[in-house]
Amino acid sequence: MNHSNNAFPDLLRKGVYEAIYKRRDIRRFLPDSLPKEVLMRILDAGHQAGSVGLMQPWNFILIASPEIRRRVKALFEQMNNKEPGKLTDPERKKLYRGLKLEGILEAPLNIAVTCDRRRDAPFVLGRAPMPETDLFSTCLAIQNMWLAARAEGIGIGWVSLLDRPAVERLLHLPRGVRLVAYLCIGYPVEFGPRPMLEEAGWKSRIPLKGLVYQDSWGRPAELFSQEAAPPLRREAKG
Ligand SMILES: Cc1cc2nc3c(=O)[nH]c(=O)nc-3n(C[C@H](O)[C@H](O)[C@H](O)COP(=O)(O)O)c2cc1C
Repeated sequence: MNHSNNAFPDLLRKGVYEAIYKRRDIRRFLPDSLPKEVLMRILDAGHQAGSVGLMQPWNFILIASPEIRRRVKALFEQMNNKEPGKLTDPERKKLYRGLKLEGILEAPLNIAVTCDRRRDAPFVLGRAPMPETDLFSTCLAIQNMWLAARAEGIGIGWVSLLDRPAVERLLHLPRGVRLVAYLCIGYPVEFGPRPMLEEAGWKSRIPLKGLVYQDSWGRPAELFSQEAAPPLRREAKG
């Protein structure tokens, strides 16, 4: 049996990894608006995500209104001013204060991605034992959008530094509908080679090897007994 029959041709396969490795969270945007057809493709990529019981619990609220965005930005400022107060190390505090953590007003468009927890009530196949799976499903839609956007040369930034109930009120979400992500989307000033938080010296990527276990928690996986970088990672880095 030829197991490679179902694999994509080389170039397409590399393209998938290229989008994965070169996706970045974007906080600096050019003001140019997105072509409608590109935006539709990105939203439809989100809509193709897997979801518990095929629930498709997501909605996408496109926010162009400067007034709403100003109010969301004010909520961000409130939260972002409070957060460093939780840090004890003065160096970390200073580092935090120097980080740019949103592009709400610079981006030509914001998208609130919500999870309608009431959808398909009362029975969603597979959700009852793990009620959060509707939220997880919504995150998959967001990741699809993030990757599709990267392939289109478009950046997305996820802003979680917000008082969630306040944003939910501002956007008139009904009870049972939850804000999962507030996204800024547009053409980026640049796609950095590494996460901005890594560039800024905040934190770096944990080696994969220490995260993969064998059969039970904490037992190192046999897979990593010999050191080897995944080959496609090496190619995509270049
Ligand atoms: C659930 C979630 C919430 C996030 N919230 C914020 C945020 O409020 N502000 C911000 O600048 N980045 C935010 N990020 C982006 C992360 O900081 C970023 O994904 C991480 O540093 C890795 O960088 P990369 O996405 O460029 O690979 C968020 C990402 C996720 C997945």
